Parts: sequence; structure tokens; C-alpha cells
Amino acid sequence: MALIDLRSDTLTKPTDAMREAMFRAPVGDDVYGEDPSINELEARGAELLGHEAALFCVSGSLANLLGVWLVAERGSELVCDEQAHIVRAEVGAHAALHGIQTRTWASPDGVADPAVVERIVADRAAHLVATGGVELENTHNFGGGTIQPVESMAKIAELCRDKGLGLHLDGARLANAAVALGRPLSDWSKLATSASLCLSKGLGAPVGTVLASSRTNIARARAERKRLGGGWRQAGILAAAGLYALDHHIDRLADDHAHARLIADIIRAKAPGAVAATVPTNIVVVTVPDAAAVVAGAKEQGVLVSLLNATTVRLVTHLDVTEAQCREGAEVVAELLA
Ligand SMILES: Cc1ncc(COP(=O)(O)O)c(C=O)c1O
Repeated sequence: MALIDLRSDTLTKPTDAMREAMFRAPVGDDVYGEDPSINELEARGAELLGHEAALFCVSGSLANLLGVWLVAERGSELVCDEQAHIVRAEVGAHAALHGIQTRTWASPDGVADPAVVERIVADRAAHLVATGGVELENTHNFGGGTIQPVESMAKIAELCRDKGLGLHLDGARLANAAVALGRPLSDWSKLATSASLCLSKGLGAPVGTVLASSRTNIARARAERKRLGGGWRQAGILAAAGLYALDHHIDRLADDHAHARLIADIIRAKAPGAVAATVPTNIVVVTVPDAAAVVAGAKEQGVLVSLLNATTVRLVTHLDVTEAQCREGAEVVAELLA
């Protein structure tokens, strides 16, 4: 039985054309700054994200680790959403490796309300933990691929500037937000002190995330990456996949978004209220009575979905699933909920 894998957009495999680009990539030693493919990707990443410089990192988690470290000192706190990837899914890295703790706000769908952020950052005094910075995630993974509007991010960025705080944007899926709203990625990322963009999610590269910031910050992040063992050598083979993804896989994210809306419609028809009224990008979060039973039941029928918590499953559309497979996968899940 051929599996329909809707667990994550990280599951995509490089296409033949991407592999060809990787095969032909000019490479050099990146610790010496001599890998032409990495240098090109970092220049492209900086331009795309509206910053002076960028750093090619092995993962979104490493880019977040460095981006958060740029804005928050050891012993300080980072303020962010309680369902943020950095809080739930980075194995405590920010505390364990950089001594940064988080203080979180709650939101229904991961979209930050500037008034809530203002209230939480106002709470500062010499005897309290110093607030180092603020973090936003766009699109928001556990929130259901939701988009932080540029206008509200601008208010939060202004607040950070007024309070002397840094702002890190986890833009793992920022390209999805940009395509969904027809805006350049930099509309969001230039508002942040540091911003990431993953190449290995919906964009379909096997590995890699770019982190963008000022020239000074990226030089600091490059040294810290090396300290963490993340300096790499002829990784231009991987950067070439990223460059290919930027050239060929951004616009097609609109297909993934249409497939996610199709999945949501099919599930809603059988289980009204199980899915949010709008599904803005490529992630469908479904509220169910027993998530483990739905994951197991779908798997028996060849459909893989993720368990987010006891009552939530997640379906993610991507490059390697067709419209027909999304339809079939959604029908299996919908039937289990009917
Ligand atoms: C929003 C978000 N940020 C960061 C990451 C981390 O990326 P990586 O798995 O490459 O470390 C993920 C991974 O799924 C994510 O969804």
C-alpha cells in the first residue's frame, strides 16, 4: 500500500532537478568563507529577508538558537507565544545552551496581539528577570499555519524599539505567509532584529535554514555557530539545493495552500467545527476526541498524520503529495471523525 504522508512538509525529498543542481554546485571550504554556493545563498537570503547579511545554518532549530541568542543575553528572558516552536519543540536548547528562559503569552492560534505583548513586556523592574527580547513565529506551526499580519508585527517591532528589546522572527515558513498574502517576505523579516527562513520545509530542500540580520550580528552568529560545532566545509552541495528551492519552489506553495483548504473542506463536511474556519497556508489542525485513535486509524488505511496533543492532529500539505492524495487522506480522516 502506498502511504500518503501528511505528517509534515519536512518530509519532502529533493527532486531530480534539485539533485542535478546539487551535483553541479561549485564548492569550497565555508569556514574559510570560500564556498561560492554558500556565499551566493547567503547573499540571496539577506536580500530576500531585507537585511545586511545572512548565515546558512543546518536547521531551523540552529537558526533560532542563534537568532534568539542575538537578542537575549544569558540570564534574561525571551517573551513569546506558549505554543512557539522554540518553547515546545527545540528540546530546551535556549535554556540548556544559552541560559535564556522564556515567559509566554497565550493566544488562540499563535497570532500575537500587540496589546498582550505590550502588557507582558511592561512588567520590568530591577528585581525581576531582565527581558532580553521578543520572539514571533510566522507562519505559526502549532497554531495551524496562521499568519501574523504585517501591521501587527510592525506595532510589536515599534514596541520593542521603544523598550530597547530585540525581536527574533522564526520565519521557518515565512515564504508560505508571503505567497498566501502576495507580499514580499521582507515586509515581515525587515521588522525583526534577526529572522530565519527554512529551505527544508515547504521549499523542499533536504537541509538548511538562512538566518538574516545586521552584518555585525551575523559575524557574531557565525562565530557562535562554529563554537557549537556548526561550522561546515563544502556544504555548497546543500546550499545549491536551497538556491534551487528559492528559484523554483516559492510560487508553487500556492498549490499546497489550495490542497490544505481542500482537506479542511472535506473534514468540515463530516465533522463541522473540527477545523478552524479559515486555513490560511499549508497546515490543517484538527480537533478530535481521541487524537491517538485517529492517528492509528488513519495509519491502518495508509494515511500518516501527526499527533500534536491528546485532542489534536495535524495534516500538512507539501511538494510530495498530490491533490488526489490530499483528497484521499482527508476522506480517511473525515470518515474516522464522522
Ligand atoms: C516553526 C518552526 N520553527 C523551527 C523549526 C525547526 O526546524 P528544524 O527541524 O530544521 O530544526 C520548525 C520545524 O518544524 C518549525 O516548524
